[in-house]
Amino acid sequence: MNAAVRAVVRTALANGIECVGIRRGWQGLINSDFILLNRDSVGHILSRGGTMLYTARSEEFMTEAGQRKAVATCKMLGIDGIVAIGGDGTFRGALALSRLGIPVVGVPATIDNDIGCTHYTIGFDTACNTAIECIDRLRDTMQSHERCSIVEVMGRNAGFLALYVGIAVGATSVLVPEREVDFQKDVVERIQDSRLAGNTHFMIVVAEGAGSAVEVGKMVRDSVGIEPRVTVLGHIQRGGTPSARDRETATRMGYTAVNALAQGRANSIIAIQGGEIMEIPIEEALEMKKSLQMERYRIMEVMQLGGTANRSSL
Ligand code: F6P
Repeated sequence: MNAAVRAVVRTALANGIECVGIRRGWQGLINSDFILLNRDSVGHILSRGGTMLYTARSEEFMTEAGQRKAVATCKMLGIDGIVAIGGDGTFRGALALSRLGIPVVGVPATIDNDIGCTHYTIGFDTACNTAIECIDRLRDTMQSHERCSIVEVMGRNAGFLALYVGIAVGATSVLVPEREVDFQKDVVERIQDSRLAGNTHFMIVVAEGAGSAVEVGKMVRDSVGIEPRVTVLGHIQRGGTPSARDRETATRMGYTAVNALAQGRANSIIAIQGGEIMEIPIEEALEMKKSLQMERYRIMEVMQLGGTANRSSL
């Protein structure tokens, strides 16, 4: 997110536009919680995770009274346009504000990668890499002790993170919220098949929205009779030095968002589709759905057991 903030400020300055940073999200706009931003105030933030502007959820902004207060702040500060960086909630706020006459452009940022209008959201790649690094470390112990590791990754409603990570670490199985979990088939039989294929340690990746890793661990102990170890990665996935992909994408998105506003286009979300950056009207963008590609799920399954006899022939 910091890379996006930096790109917004520097692109604005290049267009002769002054910038203020609204701190703590939409609540900050209600409370006039802002800082002046110049070229130097966004120096040396490219390599830092999180956001220098802080973030917060705002109940008040859900109400019309709250939104009107935010509009009043915009008038008071002379804000002609807003770049809102965030996920679905941020964009619903952006839509409300745009309907009250404030031009807004959204930049999608969430490690869940679950914004329908765009193939990519800022933070996803870094979170994947962090989870992969953690799991690679776990695997050393699991391999040495011939154990089963159950790792819970983030993703309350979406399994993109779990599935990409699962493919990248060669998971025995991946549980995602988009697909109903059949414990016997998706966990027990996959561990057994993996064992029959010669493996002696197993890695189950669970998206938090698909169930609790602790519960999966208990079921593995009871049903398979092997020793599981449970790790919940939690907010570790949301921090740390951003990857090259995230920095580059965030910079391009921030740059595109400001240029859109400077050229009089607004009320859109900056999206990436097939590598192309584009502006999609907010209303339309919020209607768009993106499903977890089940082909990827199949790839994960094939990579684990490909080349070995399948269960029906054993
Ligand atoms: O950004 C979405 C997300 O990463 C979810 O996957 C997760 O459930 C949630 O954030 C956790 O957010 P917090 O615990 O900070 O409220």
